[in-house]
Amino acid sequence: PENGLSPPWYPTPKGGTDAAWGESYKKAAALVKQMTLVEKVNITTGTGWSMQMCVGNTGPVPRLKFPALCLQDGPLGIRFADNITAFPAGITVGATWNKELMYQRGRAHGLEARLKGIHVLLGPAMGPLGRLPAGGRNFEGFGTDPVLQGVAAAQTIKGIQSEGVMATAKHYILNEQEHFRQAWEWGTPNAISSNIDDRTLHEIYAWPFAESVRAGVASIMCSYNQVNNSYACQNSKLMNGLLKDELGFQGFVQSDWLAQRSGVASALAGLDMTMPGDGLKWANGNSLWGPQLTRAVLNGSVPMERVDDMVTRIVAAWYQVGQDRWRLQPPFGKGGPTFSSWTDEEIGLLHPGSDDKTTGVVNKFINVQGEGDDFHGNLVRRIAAEGTVLVKNENNFLPLNRNGWKEHEKAGKEMNYRVGVFGEDARLNREGLNVCPDQSCNEGTLASGWGSGAVDFPYLIEPVSALRAAFNNESVYVTDWLENKLPKEKEILEDQDVCIVFANADAGEGYLSFEKIRGDRNDLFLQKNGDKLIQEVATGCGRGNGSVVVVIHTVGPVILEKWIDHPSIKAVVIANLPGQESGNSLVDILFGDINPSGRLPYTIAKKEEDYGPDSKVKYLPNPLDGLVPQQNFSDGLYIDYRYLDKHDITPRYEFGYGLSYTTFHLSSLLITAKGPKTPFPAPRPSGLEPPSYSTEIPDPKTALVPEGFRKLSKYIYPYLDSIDDIKKPEVQTSQLQSPLSPAGGAQGGNPDLYTTMITVSASVTNIGVVDGDCVVQLYIAFPKNYKDDESGETVDFPVRVLRGFEKLHVEAVQDGPIQGVKGSEHGGGGNKKMVTFDVTRKDLSYWDTKRQNWVMPTSGDFGIFVGLSSRNLPLEGRW
Ligand code: NOJ
Repeated sequence: PENGLSPPWYPTPKGGTDAAWGESYKKAAALVKQMTLVEKVNITTGTGWSMQMCVGNTGPVPRLKFPALCLQDGPLGIRFADNITAFPAGITVGATWNKELMYQRGRAHGLEARLKGIHVLLGPAMGPLGRLPAGGRNFEGFGTDPVLQGVAAAQTIKGIQSEGVMATAKHYILNEQEHFRQAWEWGTPNAISSNIDDRTLHEIYAWPFAESVRAGVASIMCSYNQVNNSYACQNSKLMNGLLKDELGFQGFVQSDWLAQRSGVASALAGLDMTMPGDGLKWANGNSLWGPQLTRAVLNGSVPMERVDDMVTRIVAAWYQVGQDRWRLQPPFGKGGPTFSSWTDEEIGLLHPGSDDKTTGVVNKFINVQGEGDDFHGNLVRRIAAEGTVLVKNENNFLPLNRNGWKEHEKAGKEMNYRVGVFGEDARLNREGLNVCPDQSCNEGTLASGWGSGAVDFPYLIEPVSALRAAFNNESVYVTDWLENKLPKEKEILEDQDVCIVFANADAGEGYLSFEKIRGDRNDLFLQKNGDKLIQEVATGCGRGNGSVVVVIHTVGPVILEKWIDHPSIKAVVIANLPGQESGNSLVDILFGDINPSGRLPYTIAKKEEDYGPDSKVKYLPNPLDGLVPQQNFSDGLYIDYRYLDKHDITPRYEFGYGLSYTTFHLSSLLITAKGPKTPFPAPRPSGLEPPSYSTEIPDPKTALVPEGFRKLSKYIYPYLDSIDDIKKPEVQTSQLQSPLSPAGGAQGGNPDLYTTMITVSASVTNIGVVDGDCVVQLYIAFPKNYKDDESGETVDFPVRVLRGFEKLHVEAVQDGPIQGVKGSEHGGGGNKKMVTFDVTRKDLSYWDTKRQNWVMPTSGDFGIFVGLSSRNLPLEGRW
């Protein structure tokens, strides 16, 4: 699309073309063939807000034993449920750079969902991607880079779906800010339009969705906002074109809640399921689909084939993750979710949104948190520890010693070692763990952002208590001041040897606000006077002789400049959003039980402007925006580190940065070509034939409400009360076929895009004295001054882009390297490991908007960089 304009793409490509889904489509077709029109419509349409137990519920087809599907938030755990796990947020998971942990978190999350009776989990989130550092929901996703985000999303999806639960890649697409994401919360006539050029769309924002499709994701949620002035949930270019043709998506597209803005147009543009079913307003009983979709088929506005494709996609996705087998197992013998989103009581209304007063057991309080070694809290702790980024550690001040400080211990001094803990972020919210709706307040320690992604904490390990428990209370005296405003009397500061000070920054989804933060942050500073607290502690601790450790819990990048260079501040950790094991994971890092291996999944700049002139949330529509607030993505490819690199701006801490208690040395770069450079991928392969059904319009009578059927108020049914106004069309119109993309052909796009072009390997040596995990990062630079063969125009490229990462555990040589013996660190022991990256054609291509294909530059050299952050790249080669 041109910036601001979205071209048409019709008709919707049918699902069932990919061999990886072949069996599921066969089974689905066999089932769907037996369905009547109203049964089909029932599967495509939610039954209305709070009509059943989950945040989203579809209608069932009892005759064919196809269940009502339960769709539930969210990416951080199971929303509105009991006895579940509050996992670390996506941003923390991104900060681990650990693919195995990404997968394990997805798996544990999927298992919890299955045991609660959830068919479709509404996560992972990969949009917003983080274009705006203050964007309210960035924390739900994994970091401001398409490759990091894409790998984490794919791993999460594979984990969730390995447990038989459908995952949802959301929000598709360009929902980069909360302000004006839709009209009703913000008082604008329409939702904001994110205006983007085709190349940026492909190379940045669509990339993680492509990876999700390649991972086999069952569902994708279209977002509230408009893209190039067409609502995302009725944008044919994005759903029919990009997603279903080019990326070969085989699952179904569901709308975000009330993001559907039209009935016929959304159906033709590729929407497959409307959520929560109500049209345009919450719980008003009117749907844009439901009976209206039935009617639209009967009068010829929506072809029968389109509805067949919607349903087949949903049913195939259900088979694809194996949910047909669930019918045989408890708790699904009777079917349905085992918890209610609407009450914490055991007995509750079965259809709380309607006038029906029937009650039943709605909460079975099933504990799904795992047990023993599989207790999910252990995984949470590990992820949160690995997602904690050590950014400053002067003179190896950390790790702390449980008995007091190293010098003291060495000097044989006993007791009298004094530690002060400061800040309300070190303690729990005194009002309770779950007192604010969807965690929409910043009180006490911050372990999650707010919104539909947030969950009720089953418990939350308080940092200050965990610290107290960790120190040996015979030799260390711990005192605390758990407020952000310090007392007048300064002894509490002056008496300390060490001060550990906590501060935070919170954000969330736009339907809730905390103080003046309406979802998006208003700035990138610490909140609740955090900066002031840290400055005061730094100045006063031990009368200026104390050592200060700063702990930050945050939803995203924060500006640290007011105090980062203060000489008393010895160490700083960015603990992101740790989830329920907060205190324990922090102790693991501060005391060195786990060697820090987290790396920043975003840049920490020195000031907000360093992220670029376009990096501000749009807080007010411009009068020139007219009916639709316009948000131009004029920064193009240059977001986060790509912007700072391009403009040579030195960040405080760059993307990918983080310290360890040991030192890693990289060597032996080897680049091996697997074949010659060629500009284009192989021609698009043809897929399987999708299932076909009769295109005949059914007899309208079959759509009438069955006799004696009792309708509940506001509940959405597929039936029509009367068919008097239905006119069967004389001719069925057909749509002109838009040209198929040469970049398509399988899940994730043309399979040749994923052919390995080169492998890059390197060795990592642990030259320190403790074992540790090293995140090795691969960046590439496209050829300099490259000119497009056809147009002769110079193509602009970012300085470098991330294309791969691996986390390796590397042991230290026993007793450390031998002093003075050069090279001794390379010998023997398990202290050296090799890492290999497969670099694909897509990794080495740019999106050519004229050819509508990925093109690999064949003249000039690629720069290949391997290192420890986006700016620490000791190994460099060319290809
Ligand atoms: C709106 C949010 O944007 C989405 O992420 C969530 O899944 C739905 N509400 C359902 O709660």
